[in-house]
Amino acid sequence: MKKLILLLSLCLCWRVYAQSPVEISFPKENMFALGSYYYPEQWDSSQWERDLKKMSEIGIRFTHFAEFAWGTLEPEEGIYDFEWLDRAVALAGKYGLKVIMCTPSPTPPVWLSKKYPDILIRRDNGVNIQHGRRQHASWSSERYCDFVKNIVTKLAERYGKNPTVIGWQIDNEPGHYGLVDYSENAQQKFRLWLRRKYKTIDQLNATWGNTFWSESYQHFDQIRLPNQQELPEKPNPHAMLDMNRFMADELAGFVNMQADVLHKNISEKQWITTNLIPVFNPVDPVRMDHLDFTTYTRYLVTGHKKGIGKLGFRLGIPEDIGFPNDQFRNFAGKTFGVMELQPGQVNWGVYNPQPMPGAVRMWIYHVFAGGGKFVCNYRFRQPLKGSEQYHYGMVMTDGVTLSPGGEEYRQVAGEMEQLRMAYDPDSEMPEYLAARRIGMLFDMNNYWETDFQKQTDQWNTMSHIHKYYNLLKTFAAPVDIISEKEDFSRYPFLIAPAYQLLDSMLVERWVKYAEQGGHLILTCRTGQKDRNGKLWEAPLAAPVHFLAGIDNLFYDHLPESLQGGVNFGTEKYDWNNWADVITPKKGTEVWATYADQFYKGSASVVHHKLGKGTVTYIGTDTDDGKLEKDVMRRVYEEAKVTVDDLPYGVVKEWRDGFYVALNYTSITQNIAIPSRAKILIGSRVLEPAGVVVWKED
Ligand code: GAL
Repeated sequence: MKKLILLLSLCLCWRVYAQSPVEISFPKENMFALGSYYYPEQWDSSQWERDLKKMSEIGIRFTHFAEFAWGTLEPEEGIYDFEWLDRAVALAGKYGLKVIMCTPSPTPPVWLSKKYPDILIRRDNGVNIQHGRRQHASWSSERYCDFVKNIVTKLAERYGKNPTVIGWQIDNEPGHYGLVDYSENAQQKFRLWLRRKYKTIDQLNATWGNTFWSESYQHFDQIRLPNQQELPEKPNPHAMLDMNRFMADELAGFVNMQADVLHKNISEKQWITTNLIPVFNPVDPVRMDHLDFTTYTRYLVTGHKKGIGKLGFRLGIPEDIGFPNDQFRNFAGKTFGVMELQPGQVNWGVYNPQPMPGAVRMWIYHVFAGGGKFVCNYRFRQPLKGSEQYHYGMVMTDGVTLSPGGEEYRQVAGEMEQLRMAYDPDSEMPEYLAARRIGMLFDMNNYWETDFQKQTDQWNTMSHIHKYYNLLKTFAAPVDIISEKEDFSRYPFLIAPAYQLLDSMLVERWVKYAEQGGHLILTCRTGQKDRNGKLWEAPLAAPVHFLAGIDNLFYDHLPESLQGGVNFGTEKYDWNNWADVITPKKGTEVWATYADQFYKGSASVVHHKLGKGTVTYIGTDTDDGKLEKDVMRRVYEEAKVTVDDLPYGVVKEWRDGFYVALNYTSITQNIAIPSRAKILIGSRVLEPAGVVVWKED
C-alpha cells in the first residue's frame, strides 16, 4: 500500500513538474482569465490599494506592471529604486492578483539618451528621434542593448522568484511603430547581416540584380539601408526584401536577447512573452522563438474601419480578432493571450466613437472562442495627464466609477464562473468541424515582397488573405494560420493565398500533401519567384504548374473603373484587381473562365486531381470575394465536407466543448442552434454585439 501511495504521489509530482509555466498560471480547467494594466508610478501611492482592491473585486485575476517605468526604476545611471514596485507587487498579492512584470526597454530614461545619443534611432530624413515619447532607442545599438540587459537582469533578480509574479512581458509592442531605423548602428549591422548572408559582394550583386542600372557595389561598406529619401525612385526590390528581413531579425534578436537574460534569472514557474501588433512591419513572430508564447494587442473601434452595416464603426470587424487568434495560437508555445484590448473609447483614432454597448464583451468572448488563455485589458484607470488623456479605462476619470467597458469586464468575469462549471476536460472537436479544418500558410516574406511590388494600386496583400479567411469563417471552418514549420498533414484542407516566394522543397511538400489525400488551394501570384524575389528562368510561376495542372499562365489588371467578368457555374462574377489567365494541362478541370477581354474563354480557376487529393488554383482576385467563396464552397463539396453558410460578421467558433456565436453586424441575427442544445449564455436571437454560448452534447 505504502508503495502504491509513493508511486501515486510521484506521478502527481511529475504531473505538476511536467506542467509548463503557462499551464501553471492558466490551468486548463480555468479556461480563461481576465487581467488589467496598472501603472503604480503614474498614480498617488495612497490610491494603489483602493485601485487594486477594486480590480480584484470585479473579477480581474492579474495585473500588469512597469513596461514604461525605466525612468522611475533607474532615475540615475546605476541608481535603482525598486521599493515602490515591491510595494505595488505586495499589494496586488494582498488582493489575490497575480502580476505580469514587464521589461521597461521601450522607455529609456532621459539621462541615457542625453549621455549616449548614439543609442537613438534615426528617421529616413536623417533626424535623430529624441527623448520625449517611447521606442526611440535602436535595437542595433550595442550600448542600448547593454543597458537593457542590465535593467532586465536587475528586475529578474528582484522578481524572478516572487510567487505573485506569474510571468514576464518583454518591451511593449516592439516594432518602433513601423519606423525604419537609419542610424549608423543600424547601417553597420545591416552590412554585417548582408556579409553573413552573401559572403561575397559578387554574390550580393548577383542576387540583387545589381548590374541593372549599374547598381553594383564593390564592397559591403558602400551599402546603405534602402531609403526613399536618398533615392530618386523606388529602391531595388531585393534590397527592400533584405532590409525587411534584417529589421525583423534585429527586432527578434532584441526580444530573444531579453528572453535569454530573463530565463537565466527567473523561476521555472514564470513564463516569458511579448505583446505584438499583429501583421505589422517589421514584426515577424516566427523569429521570436525564445519566448514561451506570444500575445497580441487590439483596438477595433478607432474610426479607421467602417465595419459591417450602419453600426459597424462601433463594432469593429471580426477578422481583427479572429485572424490573430488563429495565427498567434500557432507561434511559440502553441498558445496565446491578448495583452491589450480596447476598454472603450480611445484617443488616437481618426475619430473616436464610443464602442457599441456590449462590444467590449463581444471582443472578449471572441478571444475566448479562439482558444485564448486570457485578455488583459488596457488599462485600469483613465489617465488625467499625458498623451492618452481621453483614453478610457475600466474606471472613469474619478478613479472609482466603472466605465461601460469596466462593467462589461465584470459581467464576463461572472459569466466565466458559470461556464467553468460546465467545462468538460475530455471534450473533443466534433467530427463535422474537424473535417473542415484548414491550414492557411502565411509568411511575412511574401507580405513584404507582394506589398512592395503590388503591380496594381488595387492589390492589397492583407485584403486578399482576409478575403479567404473571412469566407472560411462564414463556413464556420476551423482555421489555423500557419508557417511552413508546421506539419501540413494535420489539415484536410490547406490554402496558400498569394504565396509568391517559394522553393522546390515547399513545392515537393505540397505535392506530397495532395498525393496523400489533402486538398490544396493556391491563389494568384503563388510561386512566381524564388525566395530572393527573382523570377524563374522559365514560364511564370513554373514550379506550381505540375502541381496545379497548368501549362502556362500570364496575369492581367483592369482599371478601377472597369469590371471584367468571370463565368463559374451558372453565375457571372466581376473582377478588376488581378487575373491569372491560365492555360490548363490536358486533363485539368476548368471550373471558371473569363467572360470578356482578349482572353475570353480562358481559365480563371482550375482543379486538378493529384494522387488521392486535389489541387485547386484560383487565379482571380475580386473586390467582393463572391467568386472565391463559391469556388471554395465547391472545393469542400467535392471533398464531401459540409459547411455552414453564415453571413459575414456572424462568428461561430467551438472551444472546449462550448459553441460561441457573436454578432459584428448591424442587424439582429438568428443563430441556428439545435433544439437539443443547452444555451448557457444569451439566446438564439443575437442583437448587434450579442454573444450566445451553448453546448450540444
Ligand atoms: C497601444 C500601446 C499602449 C497604449 C495603447 C493606447 O498600442 O501598446 O501602450 O498606448 O496603444 O490605445
